[in-house]
Amino acid sequence: MNYNLLKGKKGIIFGALNDMSIAWKVAELAKAEGAEFILTNTPVSIRLGTIDKLAEACNAEVIPADATDTNDIANLVTKAIEKFGKLDFVLHSIGMSPNVRKKLPYDKVNYDFYHKTLDISALSFHKVIAELKKQDAMNEWGSIVALSYVAAQRTLYGYNDMADAKALLESVARSFGYIYGREKKVRVNTISQSPTLTTAGSGVKGIDGLMDFTDRMSPLGNANAEECAQYCITLFSDLTKKVTMQNLYHDGGFSNMGMSYRAMSQYNKSFDNDITD
Ligand SMILES: NC(=O)c1ccc[n+]([C@@H]2O[C@H](COP(=O)([O-])OP(=O)(O)OC[C@H]3O[C@@H](n4cnc5c(N)ncnc54)[C@H](O)[C@@H]3O)[C@@H](O)[C@H]2O)c1
Repeated sequence: MNYNLLKGKKGIIFGALNDMSIAWKVAELAKAEGAEFILTNTPVSIRLGTIDKLAEACNAEVIPADATDTNDIANLVTKAIEKFGKLDFVLHSIGMSPNVRKKLPYDKVNYDFYHKTLDISALSFHKVIAELKKQDAMNEWGSIVALSYVAAQRTLYGYNDMADAKALLESVARSFGYIYGREKKVRVNTISQSPTLTTAGSGVKGIDGLMDFTDRMSPLGNANAEECAQYCITLFSDLTKKVTMQNLYHDGGFSNMGMSYRAMSQYNKSFDNDITD
């Protein structure tokens, strides 16, 4: 069911690579809720992924931009203003760690890669918001959202330097949320999403075991990409006008759990196996 929550709203959606991407689901739902938007990704992701299919379905223009490149971002924001006038929402759905890709563990990271992780996954959020503000691109009560993960607060095996990137990302949301809210009444938040099977998600070491564990631990179970999109839409809507500078957990309750019955049962089974082995 659609509610016309974004009727007449205009935006930019970063990070749709293929139909598993969280940004892809956000774009589909934003369209269904009445929004118009520009889709963007790096030239190589546009070439290797299937964003053109999404663009056709959503009647959206694709403007390439590497989110670490301030010239690309400036060009993107300028074109968005030319097309739409001021914007109402921006989704930052971007993450990548070369250390994770190359399977270098946290205590043996390559520092050039570490810089890249932080630049792509966190500083890019700063760069995007700074450019939006510089070009006065957002309407009052506009909403900017980035996607985060609970590894910003708690250590999870295998998440590597992405944990540091997410901690920085959430801090940027608070710091810019203050300035942009004070000066232009623009909201900035992060959504901390359950582990989700996407191209980026699949790069996390032991993702299947992690997803099973978090699902067992969460009273409501893991949140999937479609459900994440629904939460994003509420944050882009006028129903959440006073929500800003928050990291909002969208994880079925996982972040407030210590141990659940379902996880404990599975844990005990593994002991039985050890004994009989
Ligand atoms: N999948 C999960 O388990 C999970 C959980 C919590 C949060 N997240 C976050 O959700 C966001 C979206 O990831 P996803 O799971 O949909 O995976 P995805 O692989 O579909 O999306 C990641 C996107 O980042 C883009 N990207 C990489 N480098 C870029 C750059 N320099 N400039 C612009 N874009 C760039 C990629 O092209 C891709 O479209 C990420 O921030 C991710 O960390 C994912």
